[in-house]
Amino acid sequence: MKKIALAIAAGAMFAGAALAAPDWSKVPQRKMTLFYPGQSSLEWVMNKPDHSAVPDIVDKKRSCAKCHEGDAQEIGDKIVAGKPVGSSKTVLEPTPPAGKVGAIPVMFQAAHDGSKIYFRFEWVPPKTGTKKLDAKNEVKLTMMFDGGGTVDGAELNGCWATCHNDLRSMKDAKDDKKTKYIKNGDLASGKFMDLIQYRSGEKTPVDGHVAEARHMEGGKALLKAEGKKEGNKWIVTFERTLAGGVKGDHAITADKVYNFGFAIHEDYTNARFHYVSLGYQFGLDKPNPGVKSYIDVQKQ
Ligand code: HEC
Repeated sequence: MKKIALAIAAGAMFAGAALAAPDWSKVPQRKMTLFYPGQSSLEWVMNKPDHSAVPDIVDKKRSCAKCHEGDAQEIGDKIVAGKPVGSSKTVLEPTPPAGKVGAIPVMFQAAHDGSKIYFRFEWVPPKTGTKKLDAKNEVKLTMMFDGGGTVDGAELNGCWATCHNDLRSMKDAKDDKKTKYIKNGDLASGKFMDLIQYRSGEKTPVDGHVAEARHMEGGKALLKAEGKKEGNKWIVTFERTLAGGVKGDHAITADKVYNFGFAIHEDYTNARFHYVSLGYQFGLDKPNPGVKSYIDVQKQ
């Protein structure tokens, strides 16, 4: 009798564990090309003499992804090599890192189960160099998302809303500690980017936010941030509650569309020396077939 009860309990536990993560083989993959942005700050991309697209962005609400999904690889190749870009022929990388590739294709997946949302990222790391800016972490993967249209411009530019000329390692840096912020960012009114991060060298998931400044703690919604090398690939997964609700955690609800972007610091880098995605959107169980930059996160 006792044995049977134990077996049932073990079976229930096993089923529980199997349910905890989605069956990724059933979740559609979306390829996203992350490119090397150098010093292409919000100020640079929104300055017409530098970037002729500004009227299209402002007046026609064209997103970065709309124009650049196709040429992200080329943009990264030019910037990382220190070549002049934009209408103003600006060198956006004054110190080109030797041997660094311009872009990396990442396979992105997302699913939810009614109480949690799961994200999965898979990519083949490019050849690594010898310089270690962050000796502790070979890889950091950081995702940011707003509260469903709460950050001005994020529906077009994703993470660029947080990237400025006066940040550390950027063009007008005066303070080597200054990190991402949102102009007029405000936690209380929801005008912030929720930030979740995986670090390969540290085991704890990082759950923060970016408002008037970047805060790398305070959130409680990120339950797991895991990564592993499988063959020649890196695979990183996040598991997060939908409810959120604590400081710097946006609630993810079915009635909204969330703007997001993500970045990968590979090869032990930090600051601007990363690869970034263009801005994308996701919603829960809401197909939006006309919009290429939109991901329908389906219940598993
Ligand atoms: C309407 C299409 C369009 C949109 C929208 C757009 N761009 Fe561009 N972008 C261009 C064109 C065209 C160039 C080439 C230089 C120029 O004309 O200024 C360019 C150049 C660039 C460059 C320099 C690389 C190069 O090859 O010159 C970067 C970086 C860039 N864009 C980033 C962005 C970001 C970030 C956004 C969103 C905030 C964005 N672009 C939105 C069309 C667009």
